[in-house]
Amino acid sequence: MNVCIIGAGYVGLVTGACFADLGNNVTCVDNDKKKIDALKKLKMPFFEEGLEDMVKRNVKAGRLSFTDSIKEGVKKSLVIFICVGTPPKQGGEADLSYVEKVATEIARNMSSYRLIVEKSTVPVETGKWVRETIKLNVRKKVKFDVASNPEFLREGTAIEDFLNPDRIVIGVGSKKAEKILKELYREIDTEIVVTDINSAELIKHASNSFLATKISFINSISNICERTGADITKVAHGMGLDSRIGESFLKSGVGYGGFCFPKDVDAFVHISGKLGYDFGILKAVRKVNEEQKALFVRKVEDALWIVKGKTIGVLGLSFKPNTDDMRSAPSIDIINSLKENGARIKAYDPHAMKKAHSVIKGVTFCRTAYDAARNSDALVILTEWHEFEVLDLVRVKKLMKNALIIDGRNVFDPVRMKKLGFKYISIGR
Ligand code: UGA
Repeated sequence: MNVCIIGAGYVGLVTGACFADLGNNVTCVDNDKKKIDALKKLKMPFFEEGLEDMVKRNVKAGRLSFTDSIKEGVKKSLVIFICVGTPPKQGGEADLSYVEKVATEIARNMSSYRLIVEKSTVPVETGKWVRETIKLNVRKKVKFDVASNPEFLREGTAIEDFLNPDRIVIGVGSKKAEKILKELYREIDTEIVVTDINSAELIKHASNSFLATKISFINSISNICERTGADITKVAHGMGLDSRIGESFLKSGVGYGGFCFPKDVDAFVHISGKLGYDFGILKAVRKVNEEQKALFVRKVEDALWIVKGKTIGVLGLSFKPNTDDMRSAPSIDIINSLKENGARIKAYDPHAMKKAHSVIKGVTFCRTAYDAARNSDALVILTEWHEFEVLDLVRVKKLMKNALIIDGRNVFDPVRMKKLGFKYISIGR
């Protein structure tokens, strides 16, 4: 099938590469000419396991190409995926101006039937507006369908998630659109949930918000654990074995980050309010997440007594492991608070250093975790990279001024840390 992907960001590029790998002819469009030029030279705009190889393989096979022209993409393709950003406006509302712009451009360049699919995370009823926009701008009497096909891939495991999803959701208004999308996904062995467009849009916002709720819930429980001497990892395990609850997304830490959960929870609260419903639970989820970062900073302060003038080594900057993404990473707020309190920060991350440079200022960036530990009064862990799990802790202890670790991701076993002679403080245990 001939497929056009508009927006070569995380979702767009992974989707494009995977559809090409499944044997389709894919044109990826982005208005960032620099990004397109780099992609043509097979340079990836971000780090994602396996993506570079997949892009190279499919470009070489002639199934994947890049352009900055929507016209070119629309002309060649039957199915057009809108994968542009829906960033938050002040107040949390999703900014849909890129979606509108792209829909207008698609309409102006359609000369025969096209299926336009929104893959970007959008508030419920966006599909209706996309349809109106296309109707308004289409030049000739061209038939078209609009559909919603939300994406559930996670950064770091994006390709695996795309090719082996728990489900595929397609929200359609016609049998023709349903048939085309089912055909496009026929190689993927999973349940296809077919709904109306509004329901599909809601499935995405509701799923991300529910996962964020699980995280804030377990972080709240971790605060009760700390007050009672209970162990959050055991509590979460015991809860998670109940198949109605499930073990995933019950890891307490310094709060959720990334470009999706914070933005989507905000947007969902906003659209709900607009529809006349006050989504109180989600407002609490957001509040708990903010507090969790502040509580962690207080932990560091309590452990050090005086923060001013102390050197703190920070391990992990990206919002989660296996990605270089720094967007809404909890590390940003936590490091800024510690800096405001007068701490000197030495930071290290296995992959996110380049991106961290532009969002965190006044920090010494180190070449290794051991460099960050050297002469520090405390070591703080903010992302659970595997590299940290296998650190030579005897060496770390020798390098540090003070054997103090405050672990925001529960990477180590407290009993082992005690044996090694560390003062070890973690979350909810
Ligand atoms: C999330 C969803 O998991 C994807 O299904 C969705 O497609 C994506 O958003 C999106 O809307 O594009 P992602 O942002 O890549 O994916 O990251 P997650 O793996 O979900 O983690 C989000 C945050 O929650 C991270 O900061 C992580 O550290 C935190 N988290 C996750 C916890 O604190 N505890 C957990 O148990 C799980």
